[in-house]
Amino acid sequence: MRKSGMHIPSKWVKTKVLLKHSQIKPYIPKTRIMTKSALYAMLKQYRMVYVKPIAGSFGLGVIRVERVSGRDSTAKYRYQKGTKVRTFRDYDSMYNSLLKTKSRILYIAQRGIELLKYQNRRFDIRVMVQKDPRGQWEATGVIGRQAQAKKIVTNFHNGGKPLPLSVLLKPHLHSDGRMAAYTRKLKSLGIRISKAMNKTYPKMNMIGIDVGVGKDLKPWIIEVNTNPDPYIFNKLKDKSIYRKMYRYARRLGRRVR
Ligand SMILES: Nc1ncnc2c1ncn2[C@@H]1O[C@H](COP(=O)(O)OP(=O)(O)O)[C@@H](O)[C@H]1O
Ligand SMILES: [Mg+2]
Repeated sequence: MRKSGMHIPSKWVKTKVLLKHSQIKPYIPKTRIMTKSALYAMLKQYRMVYVKPIAGSFGLGVIRVERVSGRDSTAKYRYQKGTKVRTFRDYDSMYNSLLKTKSRILYIAQRGIELLKYQNRRFDIRVMVQKDPRGQWEATGVIGRQAQAKKIVTNFHNGGKPLPLSVLLKPHLHSDGRMAAYTRKLKSLGIRISKAMNKTYPKMNMIGIDVGVGKDLKPWIIEVNTNPDPYIFNKLKDKSIYRKMYRYARRLGRRVR
């Protein structure tokens, strides 16, 4: 399938690699291997936590866990998987149910980001970074991915809809000038992440970063994909973006659609 480059499936390994870089660390949501006590502590601190298979993809098996605050004293915790929400009166019963619904593999628990919404659906951002034919990292494209109604994942293979970032961020950034500046910021973060990954993995040549953005517009690195699919960028009106991605990927020996 792949003739060069390299694929690192473990989200935990990739997180640890990036945490070694002090300029990138502030963009990484707190992540731990999921255990009963780790999840409890994280929910106490962050209120909302995403739990996901350590080497998952397509948004499969991703669970959003919340500590419920407020006057309702019966429900204290809830989690959502797919579109199904379950509520619990205490942590132990929630955790037991979680164990039953998850597979028997390692999971990570990651601080949840309250993703921005567009037309009441969550969205996040995919930043594509590739080595150009001369071996220099270049951020070749950014695109938004809007989740299906009520879903907690934005993946294309989970019903997510690729949309131009300008459309999704317009209600949050208002002006074209701020939009352009924000895009530049995402691309420069993407290049820094790629260079950092490259220090540990010299053969890496293509990275797709899932960036989550909350109300304060701070970008958070949700996931770094080492075998990203350029396909969603083909949905943009400007076809030159996809064509370039495809060209770069092909040149580096990646087989792409
Ligand atoms: N910490 C988080 N905060 C908010 N949303 C998240 C978080 N982690 C994952 N998600 C949502 O779930 C999707 C899938 O999670 P991700 O870590 O990218 O795993 P996968 O390998 O399945 O794509 C993300 O694109 C995002 O929409
Ligand atoms: Mg992802």
